[in-house]
Amino acid sequence: MIENADRTAIEKAARILRSGGLVAFPTETVYGLGADATNGVAVARIFEAKGRPRFNPLIVHVPDADAARRFAVFDAEAALLAARFWPGPLTLVLPLKRDAGHRLSDLVTAGLDTVAIRVPRHRVARALLEAAGVPVAAPSANISGRISPTRAAHVAEDLDGRVDMILDGGAADAGLESTIVALEPRPTLLRPGAVAREDVEAALGAPLADRHEGDGVTAPGQLASHYAPNASVRLNAAESRPGEALLAFGPAAPEGALNLSRAGDLREAAANLFACLRALDAANPGRIAVMPIPETGLGEAINDRLRRAAAPKGAGG
Ligand code: TXA
Ligand code: MG
Repeated sequence: MIENADRTAIEKAARILRSGGLVAFPTETVYGLGADATNGVAVARIFEAKGRPRFNPLIVHVPDADAARRFAVFDAEAALLAARFWPGPLTLVLPLKRDAGHRLSDLVTAGLDTVAIRVPRHRVARALLEAAGVPVAAPSANISGRISPTRAAHVAEDLDGRVDMILDGGAADAGLESTIVALEPRPTLLRPGAVAREDVEAALGAPLADRHEGDGVTAPGQLASHYAPNASVRLNAAESRPGEALLAFGPAAPEGALNLSRAGDLREAAANLFACLRALDAANPGRIAVMPIPETGLGEAINDRLRRAAAPKGAGG
C-alpha cells in the first residue's frame, strides 16, 4: 500500500491515476488524495474514500502554468500571481474555459464556472503530475472531518484499503494547506494558508479583498444559484406524476428517462449528477420527482446536493 516514492513507484502511481484509480501523494502542504480530474467516476471515488457528505469543489493539480491554461482563463493579475508563486502553495480560483479540449469532470468544480488550480512544488508531486499527463484533483488525504495528513503513515491510518496506493515522499513541510485566492470579480482571499496574505498583496501591489457572504465570490462548497432549479423537488418518488420531470436512478426506471445511473451505480450517479441538474434546469419543469437513491456511501452526498438544489433560494446554502 505505502510505497517509497522512487522512479518506479511514481511511474506505477501515474498508471493507476490514468486508469481511474486513487493515489495519495505528498505535496509541500499536506498529502493529497488524487484522481484523474477528467474522469468523473474516478473523482467520485475521492468523495467515497473520504466519506465526504457533500460535493465540495476540489483543487486541480497540474505540473505547470501551461497545463493550467488549458482549463482556466488567466487575466493579467492571475498571470502575475502564477509567475510569482508557482510552483508553490498558492491555489488560484479562475474562470473555467468551457471549450477546453480536456474536459474536467464537473464533480471537480461542483458544477461551478470556476476552477481552483495549483502547481505544487514538492518533488514527488511534480514528478507524478508530469508522469500522469492528466490533471489531478486532490483534496487532503484524510477522512472527512479529520486532520490533514503530513506523513504517509497518517494517510494509511485513515485511508488504508480505500486508496490504490500511497506514495511516501517523507513529511510534507508546510503542514498547512495552500492559500486560496479567487481572481474574479476582484482578487479575494478565500482561504489563508501556506503563502502569507502580505506576500500575495505585495505581488499584486494592492490589498486582497476578504470573502463576504453574498458578495458574488462563491464560498467553498456552495453552488452558484443558477444551478438551483426553480422547480420543487420530490425525493424518493416511485414514479413521476403528471407535470413532473423524472430524475431516475437504477434499472427499474422507465426507458428514456433522465437516469443518474441505469446500473444503479452510485459512482456513476455522482459523476452524472451536475450534468443532470443542468439538463433539468434547462427544461425548467415546475416539479421534479427524484427516484430513491440509497443514503449509503456516495448516496449521502448525492441526496444532499439534490435537497439543496431543491431548497428555496437563500434558504440554508
Ligand atoms: O494544500 C492544499 O491545497 C491541499 C493539497 C492536497 O493540495 N488540498 C486541499 O484541498 O486543501 P481541499 O479539498 O481540502 O480544499 C480545497 C478548498 C475547499 O475549501 C474548496 O471548497 C475550495 O478549495 N475550492 C475548490 N474549488 C473552488 C472554486 N471553484 N471556488 C471556490 N472555492 C473552491
Ligand atoms: Mg481538507
